[in-house]
Amino acid sequence: MSFRKDFMWGVASSAYQIEGAAFEDGKGASVWDMFTHERGKIREEHTGDVACDHYHRYEEDVALMAELGVKCYRFSICWPRIIPDGIGKVNRAGVDFYNRLIDCLLEHGITPVATLFHWDYPYELEKRGAWLNPDSSDWFAYYAKVCAEEFGDRCKIFYTLNEPQCFLGYGYFAGCNAPGRQWHSYEILPALHNAFLAHGKAVQAMRSVRSDLQFGYAPSSDVCAPATDSPEDIDAARRRYFAVPEDEWMWCVSLWSDPVMLGTYPVDEPFMKNHIQTLPKTWEEDLKTIHQPIDFYGQNIYTQSLWSSDGKGGWQWVRNPMGFSKTSNNWCVSPRCLYWGPKFLYERYKTPIVITENGMGCHDTVSLDGKVHDPNRIDYVHRYLLELKKAAEEGADICGYMYWSVMDNFEWGNGFTDRFGLIYIDYLDGLRRIKKDSFEWYKGVIASNGENL
Ligand code: BG6
Repeated sequence: MSFRKDFMWGVASSAYQIEGAAFEDGKGASVWDMFTHERGKIREEHTGDVACDHYHRYEEDVALMAELGVKCYRFSICWPRIIPDGIGKVNRAGVDFYNRLIDCLLEHGITPVATLFHWDYPYELEKRGAWLNPDSSDWFAYYAKVCAEEFGDRCKIFYTLNEPQCFLGYGYFAGCNAPGRQWHSYEILPALHNAFLAHGKAVQAMRSVRSDLQFGYAPSSDVCAPATDSPEDIDAARRRYFAVPEDEWMWCVSLWSDPVMLGTYPVDEPFMKNHIQTLPKTWEEDLKTIHQPIDFYGQNIYTQSLWSSDGKGGWQWVRNPMGFSKTSNNWCVSPRCLYWGPKFLYERYKTPIVITENGMGCHDTVSLDGKVHDPNRIDYVHRYLLELKKAAEEGADICGYMYWSVMDNFEWGNGFTDRFGLIYIDYLDGLRRIKKDSFEWYKGVIASNGENL
């Protein structure tokens, strides 16, 4: 046993983080275009105005992906690039860019996998209340339908939303991501409910255009892993992973996934008990729309927390030992999350899992020999993939892994200071692309379908 023969080895990116061309060819503004131009929001005042200039250099980038041997490429579509105000006229120049990208991928034998929404919300719709506006799910469904009509003849796999935890939690409640709002707690569930409805209506709208499309959803989670392999700790970690404590609603799983995957809200969890009255009156009926059959359960997984049984039917958090390895953005290096995460998620949702993002941020540099040596990243991915393989061998249906990210890019609040790429972007030298050592290493993994791990 090993990875499936048709395992989707891939790389991932998102529009705002790599495209640049932020104000070109009729593109409308997104909340990120506005947020990055506010003083003090982003480290060192970086913006994605130019980013990796992928908009103009996509051919070079796709050729590199072909050399890497990836089977698929997960990119995102910038909603206001193709519909500048979010709901009105389609911008042909924006559509043409994605058509060129999709065609180029197909010419190189790479399956395009498009995410509809990776956080660059149309600014014109933000001004109308964004996810709190009762019409917001219809706006998204219209955009989704346009994507099916324009790209669905060649792009067959679509993920609806990337990490609602981040675009709602960080964007509208913590306020550290665009658009930097700090809504009230009674607005969490209505906004989230509208985002769920957007997912469901988008899948329905796209299926009405083409019946041969496949769909996924790509939330995130910090996995709750057991501190030991004792059955008590495993059980405690599993229960904690799917719990929704009042003050931990942002980084839990069931609140963000049960409606989409099971057609239910976790109504017995403390957070839901406290806030259920804030949902629209139609919430139970709406769950039918939200819960569309989908093909893949995407999951972005980078790290974990450790939990043990408290001996009284509850759980307790276990601190990582001092000196635990961390990435450049201070996430714990914790390979076991790619074992326990997929295992627990598959048990609950019984839908094929794709790791839609996983990777390591490092402070990479170009060495005197002109190369970028990143042994830490190779070691990180190697360890994580070994755990993923173990979960697959033990029965979790895992059908893909997309390394985040194909190239260094604009890492949101951290600007360009963290580098996750397999391809180094030399921002000081004309955005020159340099293949890192990890690029060559991952190429070998893909070529052997993970047998060389
Ligand atoms: C995921 C996002 O949360 O993690 C990506 O989907 C992001 O867009 C990646 O780049 C790394 O996170 P960060 O916060 O370091 O940019």
